[in-house]
Amino acid sequence: MTFIEDRRKIRTLALLFCVVTFTTFLFSYTFRDPSLYFFKYAFRLSDNLFSKGPCACRRCVAEAEDDPWFAERFNQSVHPLMTRENSVLSDETFKWWQWLQSERQPANFTEVVEELFRVIPDEVLYMDAGPKRCRTCAVVGNSGNLKGARYGGLIDSCDVIIRMNQAPTTGFEEDVGARTTHHVMYPESAMDLDNTTSLVLIPFKTLDLQWIISALTTGTIKHTYTPVMSRIKANKDKVLIYNPTFFKYTYESWLEGHGRYPSTGFLSLMLAVHICDEVTVFGFGADQNGNWHHYWEDNSLAGAFRHTGVHDGDREYNVTLQLADKHKIQMFRGR
Ligand SMILES: *[C@@H]1O[C@H](CO)[C@@H](O)[C@H](O)[C@H]1NC(C)=O
Ligand SMILES: *[C@@H]1O[C@H](CO)[C@@H](O)[C@H](O)[C@H]1NC(C)=O
Ligand SMILES: *[C@@H]1O[C@H](CO)[C@@H](O)[C@H](O)[C@H]1NC(C)=O
Ligand SMILES: *[C@@H]1O[C@H](CO)[C@@H](O)[C@H](O)[C@H]1NC(C)=O
Repeated sequence: MTFIEDRRKIRTLALLFCVVTFTTFLFSYTFRDPSLYFFKYAFRLSDNLFSKGPCACRRCVAEAEDDPWFAERFNQSVHPLMTRENSVLSDETFKWWQWLQSERQPANFTEVVEELFRVIPDEVLYMDAGPKRCRTCAVVGNSGNLKGARYGGLIDSCDVIIRMNQAPTTGFEEDVGARTTHHVMYPESAMDLDNTTSLVLIPFKTLDLQWIISALTTGTIKHTYTPVMSRIKANKDKVLIYNPTFFKYTYESWLEGHGRYPSTGFLSLMLAVHICDEVTVFGFGADQNGNWHHYWEDNSLAGAFRHTGVHDGDREYNVTLQLADKHKIQMFRGR
């Protein structure tokens, strides 16, 4: 009897070994860094067999109970992206949001939203957290510390890859990767995207919602407080809108009201923390010489985006470091 059981065990182990070997073999052919894939998929396999946590990854962001600091701030029921249904803002939220860029004669918000969702899809997305899901995400900031960091393979291996504002990939693939699933921007920082990327608009005013409608259709809006792209190349079936309610929640719950409003980088990070199970962060903070510049620029622009007056960069960075400290996110600091 025990002999048969032992043989069964050996057979099971042999099978497992074959699966792991095959997976390693397959992925070492497909991707550049086989060792990483070995670990990632071996862990995923064991996770799927034995998992009972809030997600199927080795660690889950949403595991809030293990840290009071995180649990106090994290609220998974605030939807990061706008739908028709959740676009009804409380008076308080609407006032706060309109105040951000003090629009003088805003159009009727309700009517603009109605028109917006005739142009872009109205879907609840990414709120499917559960024990079977392991969504890995890379948030790629624009810091010069990415120069020469060679994170391309690591970034491209994630399910979701979030970039922001003017971030290019062409010519920087080795360091920052080539894939982009989500590109976060506002009208004044917009750029053209390819068909497979979701444009995530952060609206700061009603005019920004009118702008995205216009930029995807008629091209009539050419100016906000500064000239903006009148047309944008983007797949309108993939356009998403950052929810003003979530925007305010990020500001109050995570930054405790510091700065005038959060930066695109911090808003993107919070998006990832709420829709992903595992978050890795690249290109945040200064480079090794303490310079703040974009990875596609040279150092002469040092300091360009540290103190823009509206963001509390130090506070944002501190919260980011604390998230890393508590293993909610993993930070790659580059060079
Ligand atoms: C979390 O957000 C929901 C939806 O906005 C809200 O009703 C609830 O009170 C929040 N929970 C906490 C603990 O703040
Ligand atoms: C905006 O439009 C809606 C629907 O047309 C209307 O019910 C509402 O009163 C308008 N709001 C304002 C502030 O004019
Ligand atoms: C982009 O994707 C949409 C479907 O999401 C498709 O209808 C359209 O033809 C694509 N455009 C290009 C240029 O590939
Ligand atoms: C963040 O700031 C708090 C209070 O200001 C400080 O106690 C903490 O050490 C800082 N954390 C990090 C990781 O810098």
